[in-house]
Amino acid sequence: MSVVALVPAAGRGVRLGEDVPKAFVELGGRTMLARAVDGLRDSGAIDRVVVIVPPEMVAEVRADLGSAEDVVVVAGGSERTDSVRAGLAGAGDARFVLVHDAARALTPPSVIARVVAQLRAGSSAVIPVVPVTDTIKSVDAFGAVTGTPQRSDLRAVQTPQGFDAAILRRAYDEVGAVATDDAALVERLGVTVQTIEGDALAFKVTTPHDLVLARALLNGSGSGRELSSCE
Ligand code: CTP
Ligand code: MG
Repeated sequence: MSVVALVPAAGRGVRLGEDVPKAFVELGGRTMLARAVDGLRDSGAIDRVVVIVPPEMVAEVRADLGSAEDVVVVAGGSERTDSVRAGLAGAGDARFVLVHDAARALTPPSVIARVVAQLRAGSSAVIPVVPVTDTIKSVDAFGAVTGTPQRSDLRAVQTPQGFDAAILRRAYDEVGAVATDDAALVERLGVTVQTIEGDALAFKVTTPHDLVLARALLNGSGSGRELSSCE
């Protein structure tokens, strides 16, 4: 029962504002993309990885990966949804598919292993989550508050998100919407999405502040390969 991980890494990183696409920004001498792929391999739960990169970088990334047989490189599209769709086309006959943002470069391998274990235990869709610490408000177009959801009912969602491959393919074929989160497409099919415990280290590097945090965490742990997780 093969497990394929898709790694969307084709974004431009506009909010980060570096001069290379975000997945190619280095943390402690390794790109975020390389760290994300290492984490997947270190989990011991993944058979193959499909990385999805900006079209102009496909040749360079293929050359960097050399002869790694467990990784294939495909070109992404303009929205994250387009990139995941391109990755799915390269996933072959996977039984389970994980989708894991390159930007969550410090995700502990244990989180990845937990997602796969929950799929093997019978869930069709699995997402790692953490409690929300800020109170969240909904607002209207003018900034007036329209509601305050009960904080204890809310979770912040991370990756990797894991799916029965046939269900994720159906979500992408039938729903066809743009979403920031793959599970949202699967939810629209009426499939139950199961949460499992995420980890603070699986945060997404989005802004310059996040980059400072990621680099500080790595500096505090030497090479960064043995960052202690926040479980
Ligand atoms: N991604 C992708 N293809 C896109 C857009 C995003 O593969 N067209 C990937 C990013 O490379 C990242 C992940 O999806 O690993 C999460 O997206 P996000 O954090 O929004 O990254 P960017 O789109 O690069 O950043 P920004 O929105 O600030 O430009
Ligand atoms: Mg984006």
